[in-house]
Amino acid sequence: MYELNLKDTGIEIQPTMYGIFFEDINFGADGGLYAEMVKNRSFEFDDPLMGWSQPNSDRHSFNNKSGYASIVQDKLTGNKNYARVEVNDDKGYSLINEGYRGMGVKAGETYNLSVMAALQSGSISTVTFEFIDEGGNGVGSAQIRLSGKDWAAYNAQIKANKTVEKARLKITFTGTGVIAMDMVSLFPEDTWKGRKNGLRKDLVQKLYDLNPGFLRFPGGCIVEGRTLEKRYQWKKTVGDVEDRETLINRWNTEFEHKQTPDYFQSFGLGFYEYFQLAEDLGATPLPILSCGIACQFNTGELVPMEALNPYIQDALDLIEFANGSTATTWGKLRSDMGHPQPFNLKFIGVGNEQWGPDYIERYKAFDKAIRTTYPDIKIVSGSGPFPDGEYFDYGWQQLKQLKADLVDEHYYNSPKWFKEHATRYDGYDRKGPKVFAGEYAAQSVGIANPDNKNNWDCALAEAAFMTGLERNADVVYMTSYAPLFAHADGWQWTPDLIWFNNQQSYATPNYYVQQLYGNNAGTNLVTITTGNKPVTGQDGIFSSAVVDKTTNEVVVKIVNTAGTAEKADIKVKGGKLARTGTMKLLRGDSLNEVNGFDEPNIKPQQSTISTKKSSFEAQIPAYSFAVIRIKIS
Ligand code: AHR
Repeated sequence: MYELNLKDTGIEIQPTMYGIFFEDINFGADGGLYAEMVKNRSFEFDDPLMGWSQPNSDRHSFNNKSGYASIVQDKLTGNKNYARVEVNDDKGYSLINEGYRGMGVKAGETYNLSVMAALQSGSISTVTFEFIDEGGNGVGSAQIRLSGKDWAAYNAQIKANKTVEKARLKITFTGTGVIAMDMVSLFPEDTWKGRKNGLRKDLVQKLYDLNPGFLRFPGGCIVEGRTLEKRYQWKKTVGDVEDRETLINRWNTEFEHKQTPDYFQSFGLGFYEYFQLAEDLGATPLPILSCGIACQFNTGELVPMEALNPYIQDALDLIEFANGSTATTWGKLRSDMGHPQPFNLKFIGVGNEQWGPDYIERYKAFDKAIRTTYPDIKIVSGSGPFPDGEYFDYGWQQLKQLKADLVDEHYYNSPKWFKEHATRYDGYDRKGPKVFAGEYAAQSVGIANPDNKNNWDCALAEAAFMTGLERNADVVYMTSYAPLFAHADGWQWTPDLIWFNNQQSYATPNYYVQQLYGNNAGTNLVTITTGNKPVTGQDGIFSSAVVDKTTNEVVVKIVNTAGTAEKADIKVKGGKLARTGTMKLLRGDSLNEVNGFDEPNIKPQQSTISTKKSSFEAQIPAYSFAVIRIKIS
């Protein structure tokens, strides 16, 4: 028997309660959300011809019969290199881009090509851009006609006549001579909101469907960099796309993983685009900036305190970029980029996953400067990678004394741990800083183990744990699963919330758990108890409840982690129920079950349930998660 008391506890559910953690890991941005199909479009990777091949040439030999491409470095902007292509005869020299593990093209769809080019000598008249399939056959092409010797931008559209998962882009030339090329770029025309050179529609749609309260960006460890020089610097990611300086990704396998030596950040998805995405999703933006410490799992390089000012200035300037009037330097840039209205930034993060006295010392300096200039901005501070332990306790004590606003906690652990820690926040100090559970995910094998699966066991444990987040909504203000995205052919970390290839994407069971919470957050906490105690795992059952004052509904979440079905008798106090309600049920056929690119089996199924005025009965199958919504009066 459960008792549901509809009397408001006085605890509001923050609009930011269930949000999104975004990082360019697993090809999340370049090769993923950012819909650019050409890899290394501006020849800026450490190997400037990485991603490009010239089957009809040998660039290391003087016997290049047909032609060859080489790299010229002559520009002082972020985009330093361009390709110099020499075409010697008409025997079919070509330059081919392989895309991000291929290019996903669909029959009948249009792709927008753009390129900067200059004819440096000779008689090359046209350049042909053609999709080729795995067998090298053309599946759609377009031509540009060169207009002269000066650099000029050219545009064309390619219509694909065949669906190919791993197409490539082949470039051929009519005539002989030398042509310079840069920013060879190709996007599907059909992007999110139809924005030119924008974001992948299916992936943003999945984010939108989560109904996220906030969008945290750009990471993750990429904020910190392995060295300070390689940290994420937001100012290098705004302004004209072609001038944004490419940076090796912290997740590039040059360092540790086997699959992605070709992982670089083009920053085509930069801070302006992140703010715009947050706005599109109706989510509060939450940028996280370097605090002057490189990733402590790597070099842990520290900027000396006397040299910290530029880092602090970056934070202040970012707030101006987001919120400042168009008369300010950075507010003007935002406006020039197309958004005169402020982005309404309310939160900023100082450091990603940093810990120890070095962090606190630097945090204090940021805290002072931000609070002095922008007293309304809330600051998110870090507590390191593991929940609990010496540094974690030290960080929390210090941050409490400093009256920090929100402390970011990260935990990757077993499904068992998540179930056992559903009461984690029950004992937290109600007067201390609020909690941002900024990265968490149950790991089926071990932390970041490549064999981890997004299986139902993990998703169910997360659902159980999340009842504890919700029951503690007076302390827990923000939560997000991590990582968010993974390319099926180019990942470094598992598990992940959404998987994709170059054509399709699928939602994991964990995604549907997040979606059920995000769309059923409610506005105010109410209590559900058994034997006068919160429902925190007795007989394998976990539960939390909220009311939604905007729709006059009660929302009850029940997670059954036991192997037997639960017939939940729920007695209601403090209000009357409508005669019917809805139940969304998420369950798998087994705890090992996963979703895949085919129609997923684990997804919410809706049914109607009957109620009496002050009680109802719900059948909760073994190993399932139910969300029940009923109108109240
Ligand atoms: O989510 C993957 C990584 O885990 C993040 O980049 C980092 O913050 C954490 O260690």
